[in-house]
Formats: sequence, structure tokens, C-alpha cells
Amino acid sequence: MSTPTSFRAWQELQEHYARIAPLHLRDLFREDPERAERFTLSFEDILFDYSKNRITNETVELLLQLAREADLPGWIRRMFAGEKINVTERRAVLHTALRNPRGTSVLVDGKDVMPEVHAVLDQMRRFSEEVREGRWLGYSGKPIRDVVNIGIGGSDLGPVMVTHALRPYHSSLNLHFVSNIDGTHLAETLRGLDPATTLFLVSSKTFGTLETLTNAKSARAWFLESAKDPAAVAKHFVAISTNEKAVVAFGIDKRNMFPFWDWVGGRYSLWSAIGLSIVLAIGMDHFEELLAGAHAVDEHFRTAPLEKNIPVIMGLLGIWYNNFFQASTHAVFPYDQYLAFLPAYLQQADMESNGKHVQKDGTPVSCTTGPILWGAPGTNGQHAFFQLLHQGTKLVPADFLVPAQSHNPLGPSDEHHRILLANCLAQTEALLRGKTAEEARQEMEAAGLAADDVTRLIPHRTFEGNRPSNTFLFRKLTPRTLGSLVALYEHKIFVQGTIWNINSFDQWGVELGKQLAQLLLPELNGEPARRPHDSSTERLLRAVRSLL
Ligand code: F6P
Repeated sequence: MSTPTSFRAWQELQEHYARIAPLHLRDLFREDPERAERFTLSFEDILFDYSKNRITNETVELLLQLAREADLPGWIRRMFAGEKINVTERRAVLHTALRNPRGTSVLVDGKDVMPEVHAVLDQMRRFSEEVREGRWLGYSGKPIRDVVNIGIGGSDLGPVMVTHALRPYHSSLNLHFVSNIDGTHLAETLRGLDPATTLFLVSSKTFGTLETLTNAKSARAWFLESAKDPAAVAKHFVAISTNEKAVVAFGIDKRNMFPFWDWVGGRYSLWSAIGLSIVLAIGMDHFEELLAGAHAVDEHFRTAPLEKNIPVIMGLLGIWYNNFFQASTHAVFPYDQYLAFLPAYLQQADMESNGKHVQKDGTPVSCTTGPILWGAPGTNGQHAFFQLLHQGTKLVPADFLVPAQSHNPLGPSDEHHRILLANCLAQTEALLRGKTAEEARQEMEAAGLAADDVTRLIPHRTFEGNRPSNTFLFRKLTPRTLGSLVALYEHKIFVQGTIWNINSFDQWGVELGKQLAQLLLPELNGEPARRPHDSSTERLLRAVRSLL
């Protein structure tokens, strides 16, 4: 039985929770001067401080025991070896192979996939160099200036997040991303672009996604209004997909196609040809650094002992709060404007992977699974929702990510970045220690408040503290560091899915809405309903039709 709640460690963690819950982080730090040292791990120039968590040595030991009982080391081995651990789709899960260096081999159904992986990387290098160096010419003989990636979900969020994060490494090409079926997205993106100097990347693993195909069709119509000649499409449209037949049926020459494979999950695909927009932005050498950073973490995850393994500890801490403290969300706060899209990216990575209600064998889960992941860059969040984190009634475990050095030093002694750093450290400290009633009283008295006001305001100005956080401190946001950070989160998700005994690599939950939209569409066009709706949907349909 792999059901996590049946593990001995799970029972022991439940008892342990009752003993730990009343302890305050303030006291744990006071009693143990070595705490920060003991609960910090480092990987290259990333420091992972998890000491501000509501844990003791015993908690960590029990959580590690849980991982052992779930055979986490065995599942890690199986994933890297290319076993078909995506059981519902009977697929291997090998985004790790995409970042393997040359000379390695990984077998899927007895075939080494590495030669193909590197052949596509070579194809990406050749193509991107032609475009970036102005040798790839559009139909009127002009070089490409703007690149528009059309894709959604995993075929959009990774490239959006990485191209934004690595802005300091961009060349002169302008990158744009269109994902939403809302015509506004495409229309606003194309406004001001010149068809003669615009290249479209149609990115879709399945090449069957309605939003992407509809946007690509409209982009082609926009392009042909100027180019006139359908033969010109070959110079301006390339496809990235696993589905050659659908690419050709859409009208894109297969010589303009960059393939990948069904063993790459959409939300794990930025390392594949789906990363072509990234390569066009930052160049192949930087993309290879991104891959190398992720590969280095793969090696760490594969080989480091569980207690020193950062994704393992990240995953176990998440389980501690999710399943024992009943925290329903997990927040990610990058104190780096370049990482503004990291929360949105991780939302898909985490919630599409671990938002599951049945175990691998189809039986209902016996505990809650993936948390609601959310977040926003600091310091903006502090002036918006941090009030709830500090004084609300919900426990929100949070990750804070911050680079020591900025790409944009601004002001005397890099004033901007120092203020940013100070705020990041201050928030985790405030969450940990809070402010006692006595501290609040002394503070107000020192400020000269009247005795009545002091008494009245004490409860409002008291902070409970004891709110957990992790801090990821790194030197600077480089392609390598970013690759490592993303891979740490990918493997954290794997750790949690393994312990919850769910399949983190399918996403059947997105299908029902798609099916119902297909049924509703003809009705919007005035056709009779093919099936009855509930009265709310019926009423809304009538209202929409009357407003069209
Ligand atoms: O609808 C969800 C989803 O299937 C995601 O898993 C995927 O990343 C996205 O749609 C896009 O799919 P595709 O790359 O096949 O167009």
C-alpha cells in the first residue's frame, strides 16, 4: 500500500504535530543558536534557508522517514531512467533528458533519445543564429525584427517567464507572446508590427489547442493581407510541436518544424524546442547555460542524500504545512522584478501537476493534495496583501527569492537594491518573530501616545508571528541560476506527487470545460442546443445572445 496516510511516519507526524504546533519560532531560535546553520543548504551560489519553519530535528527526521516509506529514492531513479511513470498516459517523464549534456544516453522503449534531443538543439542553434544575425530574410528581403510566440499554458508560460527574467541578456529582437483566445491579445500585439519583419512561432505540443490554432489562423490572415503570396508563409511561420501531421495540415512546411516528444510534459517543456522564443531572445549559448543550471540541479536531486537534497526538503516542508497544519495555499514572492512571472509559471507547474483527487491506481486520495499556489513580486505585495499574512487568521507558508546583486544598480551605493534586500529580509523576520503586546505597548509609550490609546490599540498593533517562510538567496539572476531555481521547483513538485501517490504528469481536469465550450459555441451562433443546460447557463446564454 502506497497510500501516504497508511505510513507509520504519517501517524507519527500527526502526533508530533500536536507537540510542535504550540511552539513559537521565536523560542526555537532563542534556544538554539545553531538553528540557521543547521537548517540551511546551499547549491552553487543559491542559499536555501529553511530555518524559519515550524520544525525541529525530529520533524525533519519524520518527514524524511515519510519520503523513505513512499520509496522516493526509487521513484527518482525510475523517472530519470525513463520508466513510464505517467501511468494514465503510459508515458515516460523525461524533461531531465532535455538538459543532459552530450555523450549521455537515456532509453525510452529501448531507444536512446539523446541523439534526437541534441539534433533539435543544433537545429535551434542554426535557426536562431540566422534570425539573430539578420540572415533569415522575410518575404520582402528584410531581416526579422519582431518575434511573436503563439501558444498557451506550458507552450507560453515558461517562455514568457524566462524571456522576462533574462531581459539583460536580450539582443535587439523584440519578443511578443500571444496566448489568450480573446482577440484583444492578438490585435494589441500585432498593432504596430510590420508583417515583412515579423516571425511567428506557433507553439503547441498537441497542435490541437483551440486557442493556439485560432490565433495562428488569424495571424496568418493578418500576414497574408500584406504578403499576398501564401508561399511567403514559409519565411514567417515556424511550428514547435510533437504532431507533424497537424502542423503540415495547418499549412506549415515540415522543414519549418521543431519537434519534441510525448515524454515532455507541456508544463515541463521550456527546455525543449518550446524554448525557441527564449533562444531567439537570449541566444543559444545563454540557453545552454539555462539548461546546464537545470542539469546541475538534476544531478543534485538524483544523487544528494535525502537530508541534504533541496527539492526533497522543499517538498517535505510543503507536505508538513499542507497536510498537518492544513494550510491550503503556498505563496511565492520573488524580490526581483525580472521574476515577475515566476508565480504564474509555478502556478501551472504545481497546480496542474498536483491538483489531483485520485491516486495512481484511481482510488480516492486519503489526504489533501496540491496547494493553491500564488504570489507576486516584492515589495509590491507588501502594500497589498501582506496584511493578511501578518495578522490574518490563515497560515500561508511562503518562499522569498532574492538576488544579492541587481542587474540595474540605481542610486548612491545601489540604494534601490539595498532597500529591496532590506525589505525582503525584514518581511521574513517579521513573519517569524511578530510583535508581542508588551513590545507594542513600549513602542507606543515611547512615541508619547496617551495611556488610553495605548490600551485601546495594543490588540491591533500586536503581531502573533510564528509564520513560516523559506528564503532563496542567490548571487545574481543569471541563465544558469534561473535554470537551477526552476528545476528545484520542478523536483519539489515531483517529491510531493510521489508522497501523495498521485500522477503529477497528466491533466484530465482541464478537459471538461473544453468539451462544454465546444458544445456551447454552436448555440452562441444560434444553433439548437445538443443537450440541456442548467437554468443558470440557459439564462446566461439567452442574455449573451440578446447582447450580441
Ligand atoms: O489545457 C491544458 C493544456 O493541455 C496544458 O497542459 C498545456 O500546457 C496547454 O494546454 C497547451 O497545450 P498545447 O501545447 O498542446 O497547445
